[in-house]
Amino acid sequence: MSAPPTATGRARISVRTLRTDRWWLPPLVTFLGLLAFVVYGLIRTFMNQWYWVPEYHYLAPFYSPCLSTACVPGSSHWGQPAPDLGPFVPPPIFVLPFVLGFRLTCYYYRKAYYRSFWASPPACAVTEPHRRYTGETRFPLIMQNVHRYFFYAALIVAAVLTYDTVIAFRGADGGFGIGLGTLLMVVNAVLLWSYTLSCHSCRHLIGGRLTHFSKHPVRYWFWTKVTWLNGKHMVLAWSSLVSVALVDLYVLLVASGAFPDPRLLN
Ligand code: FES
Repeated sequence: MSAPPTATGRARISVRTLRTDRWWLPPLVTFLGLLAFVVYGLIRTFMNQWYWVPEYHYLAPFYSPCLSTACVPGSSHWGQPAPDLGPFVPPPIFVLPFVLGFRLTCYYYRKAYYRSFWASPPACAVTEPHRRYTGETRFPLIMQNVHRYFFYAALIVAAVLTYDTVIAFRGADGGFGIGLGTLLMVVNAVLLWSYTLSCHSCRHLIGGRLTHFSKHPVRYWFWTKVTWLNGKHMVLAWSSLVSVALVDLYVLLVASGAFPDPRLLN
């Protein structure tokens, strides 16, 4: 592979990189992982069925909150303020921009897709294929700075999914019950809260922007906890992404009758 033009005064190296390890593997795995989620998300969004199990009150996370008059009976826990706009505008469309916006502007995901989708850079010490680089100084990438507002929206969505989890403790007779689906929803809610609270904007807002920690002992305490969680942000980003898709798939299988929900209680 021939080297791009070198800047004046820099050593002339005729290859793109001198790295001999498999530096292309992490961006490739990231690319395939994110692509798989996007494809699943698109199919699921436009599937527009099998997202509610009335017997056990399981609501698929992709359809929560279900705000449209097109939602199946029982699945709208927060009313139906949005109209039914036909099969090309399914119910998830009303919440998707906030959920997607949160992940798209996330500092970790930015690193992930800048590397794996845009090769900027594909890996450390590997030359980029681009001739110009303006970072996040121009439109549209300057809009990444609105991440904190998506964080506020994500707090609401996490609370909504927590409510979905609480009402999923329901048995076939209408009383208290626990099934495998309930447990999966609990794990998903914990991972979603952990991911949301480990956000870099959360760390900034909770105490990162303070100058004198000694004057704010409570915020300092919270900041130390969020900082600890923030150190696991990449792992939480992936595990919560996988858990959302898996719980959604699980509800799809139960709602469609392909898989009976194993019951632990009632
Ligand atoms: S930085 Fe990743 S969610 Fe905020």
